Amino acid sequence: MEVAKTIESVRSLVKAARGKGKKVGFVPTMGALHIGHIALIEAAVKKCDFVVVSIFVNPTQFGPGEDFKKYPRPLDDDLKICRRAGVDVVFTPTPSQMYARENLTWVNVEKLTDSLCGQFRMEHFRGVTTVCAKLFNIVAPDIAFFGQKDGQQAIVVKRMVADLNMPLEIVICPTVRHSDGLAVSSRNKYLTEQQKKDATLIYKSLQKCEEMIDAGITDSEKIITEMRSLLSRAQSIKIEYISIVDAETLQEMDRLKGKILAAVAVKLGTARLIDNILVDSNKH
Ligand code: PAF
Repeated sequence: MEVAKTIESVRSLVKAARGKGKKVGFVPTMGALHIGHIALIEAAVKKCDFVVVSIFVNPTQFGPGEDFKKYPRPLDDDLKICRRAGVDVVFTPTPSQMYARENLTWVNVEKLTDSLCGQFRMEHFRGVTTVCAKLFNIVAPDIAFFGQKDGQQAIVVKRMVADLNMPLEIVICPTVRHSDGLAVSSRNKYLTEQQKKDATLIYKSLQKCEEMIDAGITDSEKIITEMRSLLSRAQSIKIEYISIVDAETLQEMDRLKGKILAAVAVKLGTARLIDNILVDSNKH
C-alpha cells in the first residue's frame, strides 16, 4: 500500500494503474475509520481492481462552533485498517494543498440541500460537494463509494455527479449498525456509556416509523409525534429534527407516498448524531 501525500503523487499512481487497465474505486473519508468505512472499502475492493481511500478532514464542511478542531485524527490506526482491508493507495493531503489559495469556486447543489441537515448546518453541503468535486478531479475514479448513513450527502453527491456530467458512478452502501442498532459513526467516540445507551433510541424511533408505515399509517405528522415521544424517553437527547421526506426530492410530505426517507438528527452531549432509513410506503 502506498501513502500519497500530494496531489501529484496520487495522480501518478492512479495513472499507472489505469495504464494497466485497472478499474479505479474511491472511498473518500475524513479518517477515524470504523467498520462502516471498512464496509465501503470492502465494496470497493470487490468491484474494482485498484482502490484509493482519501483521509482529509475537510475544513469547509464544518460550521463555526462545530467539531473541526477536535475531530479525531488517528492516522496510524487508519493506515493499518486500510492496509488490512486491501487498499492500494491512501491519499492524505493537507488543507493547504486542497485549498492552496482563497477558494473562490464552490459547487452548490440547490433544493436538495435546503431540507434535513441543510437547515441546521449552513454551507455544510457546499463544503462537501466542493471537496468531493476536487477529490473526484484529483483521483479520477470509475466508482466512488458512500454510506447510506449520511443519506442526504449521498443523494446530493449523486445529483452533483449527474448534473455536472462527471464520468464516475456513485455506489451507496447500506448503513452499518452495532448489535443494539446504533449506526456506526466516528462521532460515537464523543459519547459516554450512558449516552451510547440513550442513542439506541434513534434507530428505535426509525423502526417505529417503519412499523407505523407497515400498519398502513400515511399521516407523517402522526408518525413524527410517535417518534418524538420515543426519543424523549432520554432526557439527554435534544432533537434537532425528525423528518419524513420523499427519497428523491427530499421534500416533506403530509401524506406518505412512494419511496420515503425518514431521518433524525439529535444532539447528545457534545455529539451531533444522524441516522435514517429508506422505506417504500407503497409496499405496505
Ligand atoms: O462523509 C464524509 O466523511 C465526508 O463528508 C466526505 C464525503 C469524505 C467529504 O469530506
